[in-house]
Amino acid sequence: MQTSFSVFLLSVLILAGLQFTYAHPPDLVRNPSTTHNSRSPTTPCTSTNLLQNPSFETGSVSSWTEFVTGSWASRGISKDAPHSGAFAFRAVSNSTSSSTLTLAQYEIGAPDSGEMRVGAWVFAAGGVGEMGSVKFTLFAGGRVVGEVVLSARSGWGAWSQIGADVGSESLRAMTVTVVVDAGGVVGEGIVVGVDDLWVGLVC
Ligand SMILES: *[C@@H]1O[C@H](CO)[C@@H](O)[C@H](O)[C@H]1NC(C)=O
Repeated sequence: MQTSFSVFLLSVLILAGLQFTYAHPPDLVRNPSTTHNSRSPTTPCTSTNLLQNPSFETGSVSSWTEFVTGSWASRGISKDAPHSGAFAFRAVSNSTSSSTLTLAQYEIGAPDSGEMRVGAWVFAAGGVGEMGSVKFTLFAGGRVVGEVVLSARSGWGAWSQIGADVGSESLRAMTVTVVVDAGGVVGEGIVVGVDDLWVGLVC
């Protein structure tokens, strides 16, 4: 587990650094997906998942680097309602305002060319008021490849898929950033989950 010192700044620097690793202009992202329970990144017609520990089935956050800001009552691997398998990453924010959480994996080693499918399953639940929401953003090689905002009004308490098919361009890093906004409500906490991440060539 990482401590939360200056992590926001660190995340920003890292994301900025990822941008600089791209000499080429970014491809247009096709089919950015915020659909619910549609085609899974683990469905057939995808090749090997290039991520290490993509579904946290090691029972730990090994291979992932974690950055947090704000207030989290708990954070780590849980057996509580994973998207698939036995485990998912799960965190509970007890902040009344905003907290962030980032999971990053580096040195993915995608090929120099080809079309990559990049995806993740995300979850948000817990006690929030009308103003509370959770925003998930998926970055691959410094580009946004998926984003969804879940709130008490939509997608709350169900797993949602985000992702897209993008050009490979030696994609090296994948990052999921979670921004929890409790909207000023002191509740039981906002629960967020991440599971079944995917980076693989589209076949
Ligand atoms: C949030 O949870 C942490 C860890 O249990 C605790 O130290 C902190 O006091 C809690 N904050 C609030 C506002 O409840």
